[in-house]
Amino acid sequence: MILPHGTSIRHLGHAGFLVEHAGLRILIDPWFHPAFLEAWFPYPDNRHLLPEVVAGRYDYLYVSHTHEDHLDERLLARLSRETTVLVPRFRSRALGRRLAALGFTDQVRLGHRDRLRLGPDCTATVLLDTSHKEDSALLLDLGGFRFLDLNDCNTPMSELPTDVDLLAAQYSGAMWYPNAYAYPPDTMAEKTAAVRADLLDTLVRKVRLTGARAYLPSAGPACFLDPELARFNDRAATIFPQWEDVAEEFAAACPGVETVRTAPGDEVTAPSPPGRWATDPQGYLAAYRERRRTEWQAYHARPYRPPTAEEVDAHFARLRLLNRPLLADYRGGLRLIAQGSAWGVPLGELAARVELEEDPADPSYTIAVPPRALRAVLDGRTGWEEALLSMRLALHRDPDVFDLTLLSLLRYGHQPAQTRQLVRERARPAETIRRDGLRLQRYCPHAGEDLTHAVIADGVVECPRHHWRWSAETGACLSGGTLPLFVEPSEQPVTTPESEPAPAEGHTT
Ligand code: FES
Repeated sequence: MILPHGTSIRHLGHAGFLVEHAGLRILIDPWFHPAFLEAWFPYPDNRHLLPEVVAGRYDYLYVSHTHEDHLDERLLARLSRETTVLVPRFRSRALGRRLAALGFTDQVRLGHRDRLRLGPDCTATVLLDTSHKEDSALLLDLGGFRFLDLNDCNTPMSELPTDVDLLAAQYSGAMWYPNAYAYPPDTMAEKTAAVRADLLDTLVRKVRLTGARAYLPSAGPACFLDPELARFNDRAATIFPQWEDVAEEFAAACPGVETVRTAPGDEVTAPSPPGRWATDPQGYLAAYRERRRTEWQAYHARPYRPPTAEEVDAHFARLRLLNRPLLADYRGGLRLIAQGSAWGVPLGELAARVELEEDPADPSYTIAVPPRALRAVLDGRTGWEEALLSMRLALHRDPDVFDLTLLSLLRYGHQPAQTRQLVRERARPAETIRRDGLRLQRYCPHAGEDLTHAVIADGVVECPRHHWRWSAETGACLSGGTLPLFVEPSEQPVTTPESEPAPAEGHTT
């Protein structure tokens, strides 16, 4: 790969980059400290880069979203506040607020596809996940060299830029499903294999759609240094493979695409050979665990007060209040298990209280949450999303069906702008498309993928991202979840507008 004169792209580990071009310095998603209840650590270790990153001066800082492996507040607190921050314009303003609280008040808010000129021949374009989720990607044009940092963002595939020289994107999982669920070994292996296949399939599609000439594996996997979580470092049995586990398959699917396998600190033009982290991961992890002992032990050592039923009650009462539209017709519930107690948490119209297990609610999800994690959630030190990502929680569901309402309540309920958008997405598909004799909603009801790229065959519509499937005749969800799809024969009289303007906020073009 040849970069323009005066340009360098340095991988800082995980989704972090330092880009320099014609005297400009752009710092992207720098992550160095443990995330999600001290569970995740950068892999490979990149701490040796911390002093120079802290000492550096930057013209621009870009933080893609609020997940702690991208928004490392401990690190940011040590950087100069003079830096201009490129802030994706999400519906909720949480990211901008958190950056402002750190002292980064010089912010440029950029909506979907908004482009900013950073220098004479350098532009930055922000791409959003246009669903209710809040994540973003950055396209840098560096004197004609196009670097697309997709990290773990799922911009609809139809809106991905093309003619990309270097694509940095996720290939490994960053989610608690299925490995935090209680499945028998065979089922777990099957579900893990399916998620891994989806991850690779999504990556291959992104590479093809962007026309990427080179690909840089990034944004994971992290590693888990707390011995309690060591099982999640098993690259074969989890959705967290290393690049070497999938490289061959990728090469077969994307022949001719150069892979740039970097170690933290490497220039993309001069990647170093894989180190001990690739050749002896167990030995590497053991030493890493010792180096960071005080950091992962902080989770267990922090002074702690056991949660009470009243606090749990008050917490969910607030979530219900903030998310009335989401829960308007919801009948399910949740059972929480913590410190030897089980709480039935009725949601929606069923009840407005938290009672003991004898409560008549019939929850379909059970979450075992360590009291320390529950304390962190109740105190507002972390959210359910982050607690789930920590892999410290254990889940069970019966029936084994994804419950978007419940999970959205937990993940986004503290930022109701997101759950309100989810309700809007459900109530009326904003756009429809015509394909294969059908008129169907354009964006997937699960997480907003563009169904222009759906597979439609044998009377079934299949989303290209997580492969939910619907009957092309009725729109009933056949697998993946429970949400229906709007679909009808395209010859039928039009009953909804072919296309309506997308919501303005966060959809700027
Ligand atoms: S976006 Fe997840 S199945 Fe469509």
